[in-house]
Amino acid sequence: MQFPRLFSSITINGMTLKNRAVMPPMGTGYGNTDSTVSDRLVAYLSRRAQGGAGLIITEVCAVDPRGKGFPNEIGIWSDAFISGLARIPDALHHFGAKVALQLHHAGRETFEDATGAIPEAPSAIPSVILGQPCESMSLERIAQIIEAFAKAAGRAKAAGFDAVELHGAHGYLLNQFLSPFSNQRDDKYGGSDENRMRFVLEIIAAVRKEVGKDFPVWIRVSADELVRGGYDLSFMQKFAPMMVAAGVDAIHCSVGIYSTPGGLSVASMDTESGFNLFRARALKDVVSVPVIGVGRINNPEVADQAIARGDADLISFGRQHLTDPDFINKAYNGDLDDIRWCTACNQGCIERLSFEMKSIACSFNPECGNEYKGQHPKVDHAKRVWVIGAGPAGLSAAMAASARGHEVEIFEKEEKPGGQLLSASRPPHKSAFRDWVTWSLRQLKKSSVPVHCQHMISKEEIKQHMPEAVILACGAYPVTPSISGLDSEIVVDARDVLTGKVNLKSPAVVLGAGYVGMETADYLLSKGIAVTVLEMQAFPPVGKLTAHGYWLHKRIKTAGGRLLFGAQVTGILTGDVRYCQENTERMESAAMIVTAMGAKSDNSLEEALKNLTIPYKIVGDAKSPRRILEAIHEGHKAGEKI
Ligand SMILES: Cc1cc2nc3c(=O)[nH]c(=O)nc-3n(C[C@H](O)[C@H](O)[C@H](O)COP(=O)(O)OP(=O)(O)OC[C@H]3O[C@@H](n4cnc5c(N)ncnc54)[C@H](O)[C@@H]3O)c2cc1C
Ligand SMILES: Cc1cc2nc3c(=O)[nH]c(=O)nc-3n(C[C@H](O)[C@H](O)[C@H](O)COP(=O)(O)O)c2cc1C
Ligand code: SF4
Repeated sequence: MQFPRLFSSITINGMTLKNRAVMPPMGTGYGNTDSTVSDRLVAYLSRRAQGGAGLIITEVCAVDPRGKGFPNEIGIWSDAFISGLARIPDALHHFGAKVALQLHHAGRETFEDATGAIPEAPSAIPSVILGQPCESMSLERIAQIIEAFAKAAGRAKAAGFDAVELHGAHGYLLNQFLSPFSNQRDDKYGGSDENRMRFVLEIIAAVRKEVGKDFPVWIRVSADELVRGGYDLSFMQKFAPMMVAAGVDAIHCSVGIYSTPGGLSVASMDTESGFNLFRARALKDVVSVPVIGVGRINNPEVADQAIARGDADLISFGRQHLTDPDFINKAYNGDLDDIRWCTACNQGCIERLSFEMKSIACSFNPECGNEYKGQHPKVDHAKRVWVIGAGPAGLSAAMAASARGHEVEIFEKEEKPGGQLLSASRPPHKSAFRDWVTWSLRQLKKSSVPVHCQHMISKEEIKQHMPEAVILACGAYPVTPSISGLDSEIVVDARDVLTGKVNLKSPAVVLGAGYVGMETADYLLSKGIAVTVLEMQAFPPVGKLTAHGYWLHKRIKTAGGRLLFGAQVTGILTGDVRYCQENTERMESAAMIVTAMGAKSDNSLEEALKNLTIPYKIVGDAKSPRRILEAIHEGHKAGEKI
């Protein structure tokens, strides 16, 4: 047993867990629009429970319709919800997991389309991020919500959940009451620390009274809000023992709120694994109940060590459960090489939920959220399938087609498989993107799918071999607009810079401030190269609202990189980049000019396939240049259906 601490059992108020691995709450958007539990949600959660975690905490579940954070958040504000919710513990207990329901009220961090009314909050201060107007809660309304939490906990118990978690973190209603940042009341619920703590303590007491002393109840907190004017860790150290005295059996120690710079509640790849454990430790120092640590932990080794050091008693693995639902069992069995790692890219999960208003997915796991559809059966007739291109789309397609029983071969013109992931994994903090390639190749090897590298497929070769089906996953190649001087020998492509194909020279001018340009600038600065980025658009194409965008801007600025917007490049002449900004001609000298100005799909083989009447599918960037998510998901679907 490699991780003895992680795989030891623990008991929380009579609830014994088989191990200390927790799946923390993650809103999915899989619930029905009437806030009832869907087949999709049950299938998704069951798949995670099957993967081995001792404790699964469901996503947010609204105690009041006005507390919903997104339109299809599940709810528990009436007895009518009990039977539907009961499907969750019924299904998950089968796998030996204990199940807690997270009770939630979003307060001001929501919008009218979700709540059906103006959001309510301790004070009428709109959310900094969402900007929606909100109403201050009356004393009567506060009493109703305290009651709603208590009744909801009773219903969760009746539905067969093993425990409830109160959502006191991430800037939602309970957190809003605690914080001088969002609570500026002048009655008994605002002002002093003691007054701001009152609402949460009254909820804990009411919940405890409702469920009795033997039912596990705990709270999730943001140990530090990390915003100017908010509370900090010392406040939470003072408050934690008071919550225990009021009746909680454990504390789940998260961090940050919506306005925290750099999105630390769901920390991106830019943040160190286990960065928040010291706060869990600080809470453990002041309470005797178990503390659950969380924050960018996907490695069982990090978790095991954290428990060994006494930083936390249990460890939550959030997004890792989306990327690989089986990873706890794999860790238990020592199959670490088989784990598909979460990259903390946030693109498929939290950013889809928060910014795109879509249900969650995982960029790297096309099956996440599709569990309810079941597996495709093996085919009766195995086809000879050619996959052209070994980028994420091609590798994903090959895995899916081979799983259905087809005879698959992959062809890649470059020396190594991986496509653009070979360059995408080179900027600082992005090496995990490469791990997915390693993982895929391992899966393909296990299925005996050959990957032929340095083998460029031509139409002649297709005609000669006539495969029965083809998946075109040729990706995209970089393009540049017609600017005079771009053929100069000091002009290089960002991908070639990142993969080490060119010698770096300083100073560098990067043309284009999309993700590729920004990450290349970040990479060059990390190598000590002076960088100026010129971007035609007046505003940064990579915003600071996403966690990765925030950290990219911060690192580039800190390292002395210059970002110039509204800068239209007009020509390159003997090492000088000429550009027009604010109607003025300007110039920037460069020893190296790096282009990152977009890409164009490579679907040059399509015509031949049409003429030869070979069934084919075009996937990923070859269809249109987009992201890893689209490449992996489209590849998977094509492979399943071919
Ligand atoms: C620096 C950089 C950073 C990026 N960062 C991110 C990110 O953080 N998140 C994100 O979502 N996306 C990111 N992307 C984009 C992402 O990498 C692409 O969207 C994704 O790789 C597309 O996958 P694909 O398989 O469709 O194509 P590709 O990755 O381009 O793979 C296509 C493969 O086909 C091969 N090929 C082409 N023609 C032939 C032929 N005739 N015969 C044999 N082989 C052939 C190519 O050599 C290539 O290996 C980044 C891209 C770059 C360049
Ligand atoms: C898609 C998504 C939805 C989330 N929804 C919730 C939620 O409903 N309740 C909550 O307390 N935390 C929520 N979180 C935060 C996670 O529980 C967890 O604290 C966070 O992802 C950090 O853990 P990780 O680094 O292991 O992913 C969510 C995170 C993600 C990625
Ligand atoms: S989308 Fe990215 S961050 Fe989210 S679970 Fe998947 S790999 Fe992790």
